[in-house]
Amino acid sequence: MRELGIIEDGAVLIADGRIVAVGTTDKIAKHELARKAAEIDCSHSVVLPGFVDSHTHPVFTSPRLIDFEKRTAGASYEEIAEAGGGIRASLRGVREASPETLAAHVLKALGKMAAQGTTTVEAKSGYGLSFTAEMKSLEVIREAAREWAGTVVPTFLGAHVVPPEYRDNPEEYVRIVCEEMIPAVAKREGLPRKAEKQIPRRLESARDDNNKGGLDGTPEGVPLQSSRDDTRAKTSARLAEFVDVFCERGAFAMEQSQRILRSAVEHNMGVRAHVCQLTPEKLAPLLEFHPASLDHMDFVSDEDIAMLAKLDTVATLLPAANYFLGLETFPPARKLIDSGVAVALATDYNPGTSPTPSMPFVLSAACTHMKMSPAEAIVAATYNAACALRLQSRKGSLEPGKDADLAIFDASDYRELAYWFGTNRCRETLLSGISRSEFQNMG
Ligand code: NIG
Ligand code: FE
Repeated sequence: MRELGIIEDGAVLIADGRIVAVGTTDKIAKHELARKAAEIDCSHSVVLPGFVDSHTHPVFTSPRLIDFEKRTAGASYEEIAEAGGGIRASLRGVREASPETLAAHVLKALGKMAAQGTTTVEAKSGYGLSFTAEMKSLEVIREAAREWAGTVVPTFLGAHVVPPEYRDNPEEYVRIVCEEMIPAVAKREGLPRKAEKQIPRRLESARDDNNKGGLDGTPEGVPLQSSRDDTRAKTSARLAEFVDVFCERGAFAMEQSQRILRSAVEHNMGVRAHVCQLTPEKLAPLLEFHPASLDHMDFVSDEDIAMLAKLDTVATLLPAANYFLGLETFPPARKLIDSGVAVALATDYNPGTSPTPSMPFVLSAACTHMKMSPAEAIVAATYNAACALRLQSRKGSLEPGKDADLAIFDASDYRELAYWFGTNRCRETLLSGISRSEFQNMG
């Protein structure tokens, strides 16, 4: 995870939204397509693959300021949730909002993410928690994705918490998720999912020849892309690619989580889970379903780290949530990486634990609080995050054939990406070859 494959005085040649060639400026300038190409001056800049933010919850209407204030007075996340705050406090806004209002919120968040270098975003539902409000949330993600130049991977998180109306009968809510919601989400079949195939266990670097395997049609979902890319927009059909579950004390027990993920697999959907965020949990019962990623992982055990190192499931760490909750401990990134587990980083953008759209902030937190090196953090936020979405054949590195998703930073050394914080050094973002500023003007 430390090899970035840096090219000094480099250039990237782009055509039709894809990368055609990558190399030194001298070499690229000789390419026959380069003569006619428009040039973006990247001198005194660091150019990276756009960040892949592989864990976000953007469908909400308002910040949770009461929760925030209570926490400044010393209450914990779980205490606030038990007193009626937490995830359930975001339900009403989502249930009552029109799809247009919600889509505007999501689109605004996507814009803020792109302004900080993010070009691919996984977006979860999970604040509706009724059949109607969850379907609306997923439709809204689809709508916002159509309006955005980047790539959006929708995830169904109907199993975020049990909504208040099922407090006395959580089993009935689990049944509705499994038997009504998941089938409805999966119903709109687009292209059939390809058979699952292993992704590399050790995801070494953003430009590592050993990882070229990702280019050969590794299994992927059908991410939504802007309508400006007609070919790909037409392939997006089902309402979500993944099913997620919050497997945690106060949310869903392991046995319930298993039922939910089993239903997802039966409906041919990818799976992922929030696990070990607040309390330890054994991972084996979840690994049965071959999750693309297990997220948070603060309390993962040494035995489970050893088991994960043998699998292709990515551990997605979300240190901005630990920062925002004021926790003293962070996920064990060093242990995971040193044991050979593929680690990704994401924002966890949400109103309760991580109201930040900034991947550079996540890089900073990862280096400062989890002792990841700047190079490891960059790989985790690009190539490994693409693996966490099963999108590594198209995303996460600058290689010919991949989507032209690039982020250009005002910096002369890649380590500056994780060094500066509380400021935005991203000068420009290219989303499938479309510049963010150009796209905003088109809109
Ligand atoms: O990833 N843990 C579950 N979900 C979110 C928090 C959601 C909320 O508090 O609104 C998370 O931290
Ligand atoms: Fe989350």
